[in-house]
Amino acid sequence: MQYSLLAPGKRLRPVLSLLTCEAILGEYRPAMDCGAALEMIHCYSLIHDDLPAMDDDDLRRGRPTCHIQFDEATAILAGDALQAYAFQVVLESDLTPEQKVGACQILAVAAGAEGMVGGQVDDLLAETQGGDAEFLMAIHRRKTGAMIRASALMGVEAAGGSDSDRHAFRKYGDSIGIAFQIADDLLDVEGSCENTGKRTGKDQSRGKLTYPSFWGVEESRRKAECYIEEALESLQGYGEAALPLRQLARYIIERSQ
Ligand code: IPE
Ligand code: IPE
Ligand code: MG
Ligand code: MG
Ligand code: MG
Repeated sequence: MQYSLLAPGKRLRPVLSLLTCEAILGEYRPAMDCGAALEMIHCYSLIHDDLPAMDDDDLRRGRPTCHIQFDEATAILAGDALQAYAFQVVLESDLTPEQKVGACQILAVAAGAEGMVGGQVDDLLAETQGGDAEFLMAIHRRKTGAMIRASALMGVEAAGGSDSDRHAFRKYGDSIGIAFQIADDLLDVEGSCENTGKRTGKDQSRGKLTYPSFWGVEESRRKAECYIEEALESLQGYGEAALPLRQLARYIIERSQ
């Protein structure tokens, strides 16, 4: 669990929950445990994503993947335990009972069949069955977008935000979430193993349904930029307080990692 969780990832989901909380409340600390929980679920999803039965990868965050470093049983169990630990961390946090229920519900929906796990099922299905533009977008919204949207929404919850905050940050999270996976697909085509810390060129060899394989590189980049514009629009009511979130949105499509 420590080997994979503490490896040098970008920590996008925790940062997103902290910055959202700070944009609403003026401080980020109330979202710290939510951020940790999000990273635990994310890390479990990466450990399982890399297993031979799924994407069969041997490098993650610049290190051998969990099942290569240890063994498959350990990787499956480390992922399972990180998932349980995520909910434990939220339930043992300093949030109010109402906030804990809200945060756990957001996390459960995003992680499960409606969100990340369901998206991963469809991602694997598309390797053999292919799919159209609508299916591709639905895969990205669920396998990656759901946890990114949940990160913003858990930040709103920790900040004690309003329904209008929820509305704005749901839209922001939706847009950057899909843009993030398009950027990930593009990095698999154009990025380097040194920068990303994982093997590149794998999506094509596995026959994945991705934005560049379906739309081409240029059109994929254009679509990602449109989603980032949408994300910026949804932050219009937040002035200076949302500056780091605007920078984060740009980083998502400009990154090389
Ligand atoms: C990789 O996520 C898996 C996807 C959902 C695209 P990240 O690119 O956030 O991976 P880390 O956390 O930085 O390792
Ligand atoms: C993974 O998508 C999404 C997850 C839920 C882990 P990818 O399979 O494209 O992620 P990488 O490229 O292996 O990081
Ligand atoms: Mg995958
Ligand atoms: Mg993968
Ligand atoms: Mg990928």
